[in-house]
Amino acid sequence: MTNATITGWGRYTPPTILSNDDLEHLTDTSDEWITTRTGIKERRISHIATSDMANIAGRRALAAAGLEPEDVDLVMLATCTGDTVIPSPAALLQAKLGAFNATAFDLNAACSGWLYGIDLATSMIRIGRHRRILLIGAERLSHYLDFSNRATAVLFGDGAGAVVLEATTDDEGVLATTTGADGSAAEILWVPGVGTSGDRYQNEDHSAYGVIMDGPEVFRRAVTTMGEAATRVVVEAGLDVDDVDLLIPHQANIRIIDATARRLKLRPEQVYVNIQAYGNTSAATIPIALSEAVEQGRVQPGSILVFAAFGAGLTWAAASVRWGARVEPIGTATVDVPPPDGDVFDLLRSNIEFFGKGVSE
Ligand SMILES: CC(C)(COP(=O)(O)OP(=O)(O)OC[C@H]1O[C@@H](n2cnc3c(N)ncnc32)[C@H](O)[C@@H]1OP(=O)(O)O)[C@@H](O)C(=O)NCCC(=O)NCCS
Repeated sequence: MTNATITGWGRYTPPTILSNDDLEHLTDTSDEWITTRTGIKERRISHIATSDMANIAGRRALAAAGLEPEDVDLVMLATCTGDTVIPSPAALLQAKLGAFNATAFDLNAACSGWLYGIDLATSMIRIGRHRRILLIGAERLSHYLDFSNRATAVLFGDGAGAVVLEATTDDEGVLATTTGADGSAAEILWVPGVGTSGDRYQNEDHSAYGVIMDGPEVFRRAVTTMGEAATRVVVEAGLDVDDVDLLIPHQANIRIIDATARRLKLRPEQVYVNIQAYGNTSAATIPIALSEAVEQGRVQPGSILVFAAFGAGLTWAAASVRWGARVEPIGTATVDVPPPDGDVFDLLRSNIEFFGKGVSE
């Protein structure tokens, strides 16, 4: 049987940090509230486009797999914050990578997007449609935030993570996947006014879009759907929860992560958490976390991993994976990135001016 196994991993996290202390100058919040309610201490703000972040993460994943960009036959970009609508950001990314033997498309399932991608990539490899796939989750959520709105400004950040999936006949790789959606709950987490539902002639509203969220309702549903999805991919892989070495969950709120871990009866050391450093980077959280976990030795040859996510839509997804024999990258990519122009408040200047609250002392 043909399996889909992860052979490369990489990430790009922008250098500019927005700390909880910085946020205290932009909105009515506190480090204490954000830390205890979410687990987040800081997040990154990107000075480069989504497809540029994806390009860097993608090149790093390709180098780790020992591949050149021309070696992949599909580039899949999971994002809900692409730099363009036409053409797809995946097309821009394909050119930036130089992956000219690959077809390229975007996949938008919000925070579940990268895991939807794992599900799709696995199916495509199993049926022989593709053999080498570069799957990237990249998000520039800061573009959609109103940094004077404490309900959402504190939660999200920017970044990109990538993996290479390759066909193998070895007994490894993706074991089971599940995906789900409930569009009837769309309005508990959405960005109104963007897309063809918006009124393009209402210029004064045109750029005023922002994330609208019913936090407690999203929280409630997240706990249920993530826990159920994670349990399903363990059972469908013929495994017991005792077999799970590491859960790498979507990083949206430490309390949601803890609830999911409790559901699987996992100990803290069996759960990868980096929400304190990056906040919620949507489709990028799991591939960023995976690449860190491999580097830190938390993933070993043959490790059983479980990924689980939920997101706007609502969507949810999970996958169980048996890691292959290699935990060392074959190569590393050196990529030149232009430095940011100014500090975090300079990067957010247009947002701060537009939403009108300014920076307090
Ligand atoms: C957003 C979230 C952290 C809020 O935590 P919560 O415990 O549910 O808090 P509530 O929304 O009930 O608000 C409690 C109080 O804190 C206040 N509050 C909300 N955000 C705040 C902030 N950033 N700083 C300080 N106070 C804040 C509220 O106004 C409310 O005040 P009140 O009691 O005076 O009315 C939590 O609901 C959550 O994480 N939800 C899921 C969101 C998510 O994951 N979204 C992405 C999905 S992929």
